[in-house]
Amino acid sequence: MKWIDVLNYKELSEEAAKIIKERINNSPNLTIGLATGSTPIGLYEELIKAYKHGELSFSGVTSYNLDEYIGIDINSPQSYYQFMFQNLFNHVDIQKEKVHIPNGNTTDLQVECAQYEKLIKNSGGIDIQVLGIGNNGHIAFNEPGTSFDAKTHVVKLDDSTIAANARFFNNKDEVPVQAITMGIGTIMKSKEILLLISGKGKQEAIEKLKSGVVTEDFPASILHKHPNVTVIITNN
Ligand code: GLP
Repeated sequence: MKWIDVLNYKELSEEAAKIIKERINNSPNLTIGLATGSTPIGLYEELIKAYKHGELSFSGVTSYNLDEYIGIDINSPQSYYQFMFQNLFNHVDIQKEKVHIPNGNTTDLQVECAQYEKLIKNSGGIDIQVLGIGNNGHIAFNEPGTSFDAKTHVVKLDDSTIAANARFFNNKDEVPVQAITMGIGTIMKSKEILLLISGKGKQEAIEKLKSGVVTEDFPASILHKHPNVTVIITNN
């Protein structure tokens, strides 16, 4: 696990964008795994800037998002679908048919999970996966206690995750209680992982991750077992 300490959020976003830009420019048909949450927003802004300056193109890129709430309309501003289009896809030349986000509004969620997993596999797997981390160590929506072998599946969100994500809704009761998420097994198959950690609220998670103890009680700890992980971190 390679750690890059940076001074602030702007540097974190620039450093992450530099890596993603390089990977896309080296492999224009790259398959990228994308994350939501506040942390990657600056990265997406940097990528949009680079695209507008003619420094990269997403035209050959295929994307897979980590997760999506269940039972939230995709047109709702809080859906991860809207998040991705507003913060990245609407501003770059990615082909809409190459964008994949789990569908949390389907009647058969099990089929959706199995199909999502299969789609990733049939694309040849994810070349680089962007990750954030939850206060409780969750990655994507894999909450503490999730099996390290899990594939794309339906999860019940932890109370702490619902409380943390309530800031995007009018109140806590509006936050969906379930989501579809890539499993830890799915994430671990990515060839490369870029974990972004920013914010004072993440101190406990940072300490647990740095301790190197690998346990299902702290999902992000599995990343110690992956051969190609870069963590970009700022305490500010
Ligand atoms: C959500 C997402 C995660 C993300 C986490 C942290 O729960 N499902 O993928 O890493 O939030 O978000 P933030 O970056 O806002 O702290």
